[in-house]
Amino acid sequence: MSSPVREKLVLDDPAAAAAERIGSAVSNGGHVALAGGSSPRAAYERLATMDVEWSRATLWFGDERCVSPDDRRSNFGMVRSALLDRLTGAQPDVRRIEGERGPDRAAAAYERELLAAFAGQPPVFDLVLLGIGADGHCASLFPRQPALEERARLVVGVARPGLAPWVPRVTMTLPLINAAREVLFLVTGAEKARAVARLIAEPAGRGLPASLVAPASGALTVLLDHPAAAGPAAAVS
Ligand code: 6PG
Repeated sequence: MSSPVREKLVLDDPAAAAAERIGSAVSNGGHVALAGGSSPRAAYERLATMDVEWSRATLWFGDERCVSPDDRRSNFGMVRSALLDRLTGAQPDVRRIEGERGPDRAAAAYERELLAAFAGQPPVFDLVLLGIGADGHCASLFPRQPALEERARLVVGVARPGLAPWVPRVTMTLPLINAAREVLFLVTGAEKARAVARLIAEPAGRGLPASLVAPASGALTVLLDHPAAAGPAAAVS
């Protein structure tokens, strides 16, 4: 079985392309799951300047660190400063993960909120934005961790992340991510080149956590800058 990646775009400005795709899903009144970390900040800042209809959209988070929303490590805090605080018109419905409650309680609460928002039906996101760590993780699904094997729960706690920041996490699981209509990876920087090469090459369902993202019927697009697309040989050792 081949890689599930249906579209790989190597761009001078992948953040702009990501902002366009997120903006389209938002203007269509969709349910959109945002990524944390640092890569998407430029896309969110671009999105805040675009002519987007926010009032019918619902924003969710693919994962969160178990810290206060005012902590510099908070994914919600990053989205609030890069995007939400810059919106001047109608606001989206924002559903943050209450990571400060601890991984398991926050995960259970978020799962209940998702099921309520989708009237008890299996949640289907219109777009899920993901990044990739240098170890090939996405959301907070780290290699060789129980969360990666979860096939029933929609959201779980992660007691010990595989990379910094070394705080517990809350993460959407693969079944929830793979149910989406569109999954978009936004990956920049040479330090990701090795993980990207495996994401593109590995067959569906095998390998790195990011390589396990294979939407059942949705689109899977990888947006890259040139250093991230340069292949494993160029990756930093
Ligand atoms: C997080 C993110 C995580 C991120 C990757 C890449 O909470 O850290 O959701 O999955 O997408 O770690 O992070 P950078 O964009 O900072 O490289």
